[in-house]
Amino acid sequence: MDIESSPQTSGHYPNHVGIIMDGNGRWATKRSLPRTAGHYEGVKAAKRVTSEAARLKIPYLTYYVFSTENWQRPEKEVAYLMNLLATRLYSEIDFYKRIGARVLLRGDSSKLTKKAYDAIKVTEEATAQFDQIIVSLAINHGGHDEIVRSVNKWLVTRDSSQVITEEVIRANLDLSFIPPVDLIIRSGGEKRLSNFMLWDAAYAEFAFYDSLWPDWGANDFKTACDDFAHRARRFGRVTYD
Ligand code: IPE
Ligand code: IPE
Ligand code: MG
Repeated sequence: MDIESSPQTSGHYPNHVGIIMDGNGRWATKRSLPRTAGHYEGVKAAKRVTSEAARLKIPYLTYYVFSTENWQRPEKEVAYLMNLLATRLYSEIDFYKRIGARVLLRGDSSKLTKKAYDAIKVTEEATAQFDQIIVSLAINHGGHDEIVRSVNKWLVTRDSSQVITEEVIRANLDLSFIPPVDLIIRSGGEKRLSNFMLWDAAYAEFAFYDSLWPDWGANDFKTACDDFAHRARRFGRVTYD
């Protein structure tokens, strides 16, 4: 890695990158195309970025694909997104295998369409033996929802004298074996989390970019990782990590 290591910067690439893929609709509207065309192109961008993340040996990558709030979009757009998920995942299983990626769902699967749910399950099973990079797809994901479901999971097993702890909340989050996110990238110009991985983002670094998600490629991702490597992370201490 061509990154200068100094005591004041992390000096290395992030272990876990979360990506808020925003700007698909605007990308399409600018071209007088339906918003759905932006989602179609957005999938291609995700593939370019996943390849680069694998090349850079980033162990964990989480994509914000569909939020708990996105159900409020027009019915047609929601149906398109669910269908896109279902169809594209099947056709990308070979790609994931080729780069050694294990694909996992992060979110409440109970509300997904059967087609989308089945596609995710098939993809999870087909890639279960790979571990070069873990690609989590946050679908019907919401940071609040994930914490509430975590607490509810614990409540079922709790005996009445126990109080909840941070460790218990973390242990019951979706995919709790995946470490907290180090770097959250958001394309599309907005500077907000939109309910993404709230618990695990507690000490994340943020990188906001104006470029719209369908325009993203390998270089954009690498630039964000290089920038991360030059940041000083203190985690509340006076010394650097
Ligand atoms: C992000 O792009 C994709 C999803 C939320 C599914 P948008 O669809 O939010 O694109 P903009 O923000 O409207 O341009
Ligand atoms: C965040 O984008 C959700 C995803 C990228 C899946 P949105 O476009 O839904 O976020 P807001 O509505 O601008 O906050
Ligand atoms: Mg948006």
